[in-house]
Amino acid sequence: MCGIFAYLNYQVPRTRKEILETLVKGLQRLEYRGYDSAGVAVDGPKNNKDNNNNSITLIKKRGKVKNLDEELYKKDSDLDLDAVLGTHFGLAHTRWATHGEPSAVNCHPHRSDKDNEFVVVHNGIITNYKELKKYLNSKGYEFESETDTEVIPKLTKYVYDNRERDTISFSTLVERVIQQLEGAFALVFKSRHFPGEAVATRRGSPLLIGVRSESELSAEHIPIQYNSALFKEGVQEKNIHNRPDAVGGGKAVEYYFASDASAIIEHTNKVLYMEDDDVAIVTNGKLSIHRLNRQAGEDPVRLIKTLQMELQQIMKGNFEAFMQKEIFEQPESVVNTMRGRIVFDTDTVVLGGLKDHLKEIKRCRRLIMIGCGTSFHAAVATRQILEELTELPVMVELASDFLDRNTPVFRDDVCFFISQSGETADTLMALRYCKERGALTVGITNTVGSSISRDTDCGVHINAGPEIGVASTKAYTSQFVSLVMFGLMVSEDRVSLQKRRGEIIQGLKDLPELIKKVLALDNKIKAIADELYEQRSLLVMGRGFNYATCLEGALKIKEITYMHSEGILAGELKHGPLALIDKHMPVIMIIMRDACYQKCQNALEQVTARSGRPIILCCQDDVEITKNAYKTIELPHTVDCLQGILSVIPLQLMSFHLAVLRGYDVDCPRNLAKSVTVE
Ligand code: G6P
Repeated sequence: MCGIFAYLNYQVPRTRKEILETLVKGLQRLEYRGYDSAGVAVDGPKNNKDNNNNSITLIKKRGKVKNLDEELYKKDSDLDLDAVLGTHFGLAHTRWATHGEPSAVNCHPHRSDKDNEFVVVHNGIITNYKELKKYLNSKGYEFESETDTEVIPKLTKYVYDNRERDTISFSTLVERVIQQLEGAFALVFKSRHFPGEAVATRRGSPLLIGVRSESELSAEHIPIQYNSALFKEGVQEKNIHNRPDAVGGGKAVEYYFASDASAIIEHTNKVLYMEDDDVAIVTNGKLSIHRLNRQAGEDPVRLIKTLQMELQQIMKGNFEAFMQKEIFEQPESVVNTMRGRIVFDTDTVVLGGLKDHLKEIKRCRRLIMIGCGTSFHAAVATRQILEELTELPVMVELASDFLDRNTPVFRDDVCFFISQSGETADTLMALRYCKERGALTVGITNTVGSSISRDTDCGVHINAGPEIGVASTKAYTSQFVSLVMFGLMVSEDRVSLQKRRGEIIQGLKDLPELIKKVLALDNKIKAIADELYEQRSLLVMGRGFNYATCLEGALKIKEITYMHSEGILAGELKHGPLALIDKHMPVIMIIMRDACYQKCQNALEQVTARSGRPIILCCQDDVEITKNAYKTIELPHTVDCLQGILSVIPLQLMSFHLAVLRGYDVDCPRNLAKSVTVE
């Protein structure tokens, strides 16, 4: 939700055009986080009349990053694009509106005043902005936007204008400002009073810093000042605070500040993940970290990590959209989730991140699975098999509702936080809530270094690879597999469950091949979408192990096709939804050969008796079903608790084709963002 990208080149000459290109490319990589408006701040006078040496120009545009990109190179701009800037710091931002409609004026960077003395990009929400705005208004500061963010540059100028002494460092200024802020934020500051300097900070919203230096690129020539040990994965964490030679060393260096790693990976794989209340400062090319309100003797230790991500993973390749690419990646992504964790010969499952807590987990009173959106559906999908394998009560909870209810949580509960991004605000808040109550917290995330993966006691990285499309697909199936693996690990010593475990493990082994078979149905699914795309509504019905598929399928359809769609538990059909059925209402039914087969057939009868024309997802060669269906999509059969992995894929594909046929942008659906870092 909102993407921040900032680029500092220190003694690395770049033309202004190159800098703008870097900023725009960074935004394009982050566009899935928000895409209703975008803006940049760079050094330079806006027009020839501006004689100030340290001018900052803001360029902002409503709409997608592409619109901003066009705006930057308009003929009537006075910015000298060919000017070479040895040292420069530029900011960029792509927005997902929370306060104030999408417009150029509400878009970031926001500024302190007409002279752009301080400019800021922000991700998150400042909850006390009204009070701050009132105060600043009373001091004569005029606001131009409807955003919460604008209080930040204005407050920075206020603190600067009212400093006790002539000199104040940029970082001290920012530290004073953020002490007044409540809510969540990742912030990057730029100022004409501190040219070439950068200050960045975070609380509750992600921010990381990529470092690229020439010396790192040529292995033979590592200058003394450059502490190469810091750049080795797995070395002892080093204190980089107050070490003049720590990072950058005053030599040519480039820094990239971003909301997530996908914007950094094409420049460098060396990154530092900022923690809450860290203040990162770059002065004269040197990066250091301060802790806000640090106690005497407390020195932050931050490790520069090596990203494992490959650039190719975040490129679309030959696919029309990231979502489509990610759907087709599932035969590999589920393998990556299982890799090194399941030994198929011996039926053993070891999740490295959980093994030290296994005893505690087995002793617990219940499991609580918490998430939002698709991640919540992964919990619904695996609840039944987890109850069966762990023999524990399993609650599944939407994070926001869980918090609204002040749900009782106890020390002997184990709470799972399921989140692709690892940054979803509601899920994070629920994590804090459960931590305070002493429960063991387990993260199931796709993002190494994310807040949830860092703040939980233990967890599982689902290793699905970067997911860019806003509508989650491969993360869902990998979350599903991870949770099933958890159940298998916990039940390893239960004699009565060995046969069942063996079946499931064999099912997991065969999964990639079966997924490929489902993907091969793409043309058939497209043909059905051709018939359905002008409909206004689409119901998806099923029960048991496939109920979650209905919820998830309907969510995909809503998210990207803007059609009304509802996932209905077939057992509830007669309690209301049946009233919707007639010959016009499109219904997709999921009827697999499992314990609910007969009951699903009853539901089918009820639908056909009302002239409904169901499209049925069923097992291959199920003549009983196909003879009653208007259309069928026949899927390979697997063990009941894994069938949902196969049954969701046709609905992912269906939503994709419907959205394309309806002419929508599949990867950037209206009003949505991939990572929702506000409550
Ligand atoms: C947003 C996204 C959904 C996602 C949900 C939870 O609403 O649009 O696709 O399922 O957040 O995200 P998480 O990163 O916590 O899984």
